[in-house]
Amino acid sequence: MLTVALPKGRIAKETLEIFETIFGETFAFDDRKLELETPDFKFLLVRNQDVATYVFHQAADIGVVGLDTLEEQGLDVLRILDLKRGVCKVAIGMRKGEKPDYSKPELKVATKMVNITKRYFAERAISADIIKLYGSIELAPLVGLADMIVDIVETGATMKQNGLEVVEDIMVSSTYLIANKNSFVEKKGEILDIYEKINGVVNPS
Ligand code: PRP
Repeated sequence: MLTVALPKGRIAKETLEIFETIFGETFAFDDRKLELETPDFKFLLVRNQDVATYVFHQAADIGVVGLDTLEEQGLDVLRILDLKRGVCKVAIGMRKGEKPDYSKPELKVATKMVNITKRYFAERAISADIIKLYGSIELAPLVGLADMIVDIVETGATMKQNGLEVVEDIMVSSTYLIANKNSFVEKKGEILDIYEKINGVVNPS
């Protein structure tokens, strides 16, 4: 039996569809239920930001989560397969027509991805005052809270509709299958088996 942590929303739906393709049966959570048990799997429905935590503490053996979230959290889990879904990028956005002025003594950067942002600017020896927000990041440059934002860009519609544009890409992200390191030893056969089956769906030969 493998316990699988899935983030509520589109990724859970897409992942369960992969399982349905593999096993030819329906995998669906009952209304409001957070656990789904089948003979071989126990699926847990958790918040996106909590998937790696469940896996890291071995409350789940495997999980599915975005690379951006993994990079932000830095938890020690195994990244075993790129599922090539949920493709987006983490990028720097500014008001249309503006360009970053790295000669400024300190740039103000609003983001919910503080660690990725810190790393990006530190690697370039740019001094940045990072302002942590929890959502509606695109608002920050419009009201003078920040010079720029670091945020997820999928279609680009949110930035565009708020008069912002991407000035630099930081990383490309997609959803990954992850595993707990101990589970990968204790349940190696089961994990490799589901890895191969998922790989067959994600990377058909
Ligand atoms: C993300 C991100 C942007 C938006 C980008 O937020 O913070 O606001 O999606 O998508 P787009 O390029 O397709 O417009 P999300 O919807 O994940 O909500 P959150 O702020 O609750 O994380």
